[in-house]
Amino acid sequence: MNILIFLGSCRTSSPPRPKRLGERVSLACSHLLNRAFPGNTVEIIDPLDYDTGGVFKPEFAYSRKQVPQQLATLAEKIKHADAYVMVSPEYNHSMSPALAHLLNHFGSSLFSFKPSAIVTYSAGQWGGARAAVSMRTFLSELGCLPVSAMIHLPCAQDVFSEDGHTINAEEQTHWDEYLHRTLAQMIWWAEASQQQRNKVDPLMVSKAFTHSPSQRNAPK
Ligand SMILES: Cc1cc2nc3c(=O)[nH]c(=O)nc-3n(C[C@H](O)[C@H](O)[C@H](O)COP(=O)(O)O)c2cc1C
Repeated sequence: MNILIFLGSCRTSSPPRPKRLGERVSLACSHLLNRAFPGNTVEIIDPLDYDTGGVFKPEFAYSRKQVPQQLATLAEKIKHADAYVMVSPEYNHSMSPALAHLLNHFGSSLFSFKPSAIVTYSAGQWGGARAAVSMRTFLSELGCLPVSAMIHLPCAQDVFSEDGHTINAEEQTHWDEYLHRTLAQMIWWAEASQQQRNKVDPLMVSKAFTHSPSQRNAPK
C-alpha cells in the first residue's frame, strides 16, 4: 500500500524555537510505519516542496493540460495513496493553515473512500488536541475518514529528536505503543477499503458531481 504523511507546517521562523517540529513528528510516524508495517511505501509530503504561494487556484480548476507540474504530481500521489497521515501543529487552537491550504488544492475525489489518521503536536502541554477537533470535520469532508484513535504529542521537542527517534530510550516502547494504536487502525481500514475499492468502484455507488456541488443538494 501507499501511505502519504502530510507534514502540516511550512514554518521557517526562529523563534519560536525549536525549528519546525513537524519534521521530527512526521519522521517519527514514518519510522513507526516502516518498522511495524513493512512492505508499504511511506512518503512524507512537505508543503515547502510545493509552490502554493500567491493566488489560490485549486488543481481541479485548471484545464487538464495546464495544471502546474507540482500540483499534477501531488494529485497523482494522492490519487494512488491508500491512506493519509495528517500531521498538524496547533496554531491558535486550530489546525495548521499550511496543511489546510495544501489540502484545499485538491478535490475530495482523490482522497475519498480511504482512511486517514490525525496526528497533532505542540511545543506546549496540550499536544494540539484543540486543533484535532476541527480536523475530524475537515478530513471527513474530504472523504478520507479519520480513524477513531488519534495521536496528540505535547512538548514534542522533548519527545523526538530531529531525526524522529525517541530522545529517552527508556520511553521508546511507550511512545511506539501510543503511535501504533492509531496507525494500526489506519492500516486496518486501508487494507479493508483497498479490497472493497477493487471489488466495487466507489463512483458507481456514490456518483461524483459533474457540473456543480448543488447536485448533492436535497430536492426542492
Ligand atoms: C502562529 C502560532 C500559533 C501558535 N498557537 C499555538 C496554540 O494555539 N497552542 C499551542 O499549544 N501552541 C501554539 N503554538 C506553538 C507551537 O506549538 C510551536 O511553535 C510548534 O513548534 C509549531 O509547530 P511547527 O514548529 O512544526 O511549525 C503556536 C505557534 C505559532 C507560530
